[in-house]
Amino acid sequence: MALLTVRNLVMEYEGKAVLKGIDLDLDEGELKVVMGPSGCGKSTLLRCLNRLITPTSGQVIFRGEDVTLPGTDVRALRQRIGFVFQNFALYRHLTALENVTLGLRKLRRIPAAEAAERAKHELRRMDMVEHHHKYPAQLSGGQKQRVAIARVLAMDPAVLFFDEPTSALDPLMAREIINVINQLRRDNVSMLCVTHDLFLARSVGGRVLFLDQGVIHAEGDAEQLFGDHADPRIRAFFSQESRDDREAGSP
Ligand SMILES: Nc1ncnc2c1ncn2[C@@H]1O[C@H](COP(=O)(O)OP(=O)(O)OP(=O)(O)O)[C@@H](O)[C@H]1O
Ligand SMILES: [Mg+2]
Repeated sequence: MALLTVRNLVMEYEGKAVLKGIDLDLDEGELKVVMGPSGCGKSTLLRCLNRLITPTSGQVIFRGEDVTLPGTDVRALRQRIGFVFQNFALYRHLTALENVTLGLRKLRRIPAAEAAERAKHELRRMDMVEHHHKYPAQLSGGQKQRVAIARVLAMDPAVLFFDEPTSALDPLMAREIINVINQLRRDNVSMLCVTHDLFLARSVGGRVLFLDQGVIHAEGDAEQLFGDHADPRIRAFFSQESRDDREAGSP
């Protein structure tokens, strides 16, 4: 069943189109990965979909409802979408547990004891429960990202959006996040991930979309896109990424 259907999505900044007619479908329980060069509009796409910004035109159907229509409850929409950022966006003055309970208490008005229980459940799922008392400064990058993921899962979202979830991490820590994404995939969590990270795109096994110059040029299994693709633009992008990867010493 369709969770998200995007049709002819256009986003212009100051009259300049960044997204020039995007079509995208995400089913319940599905994972898709959007790749493309820096500045191609990956973050803009995610922001349009959760209505952090208003697209210039086009349709975004979220569980049967067009969320681009005037009168859409954008706050409610954003609460249905768990957003995981490159830089974790944890509160420095709060412990891991407090970071996870904050939204439950303030947005969902869940009593403290119940919020703590739910938060610990999600931290346990992320293998982080023994670190619940630590502040972000006391955690590794991978651990911080796992707390950030526990925080969005605690809100029981319909879908997770990841914006470059591994780009602030070294390869070993990135591997932790890849494992988490794979675990969530087995739990049938719906996910849309935008990334530069070739290794991530290959390791999570979802469909991969290639976004460039405002349009989706191709969609396929990772191996189809990373192979010797007929489109020279796609071939150039993915071979460049492979070289970068080798230089960075990734497997
Ligand atoms: N608020 C804004 N106002 C004007 N232009 C913007 C704004 N936000 C983004 N842009 C432009 O839109 C284009 C797409 O930006 P976006 O951040 O979506 O790219 P991206 O694919 O996420 O890049 P990266 O891989 O570097 O994160 C860029 O050219 C950027 O300069
Ligand atoms: Mg971006």
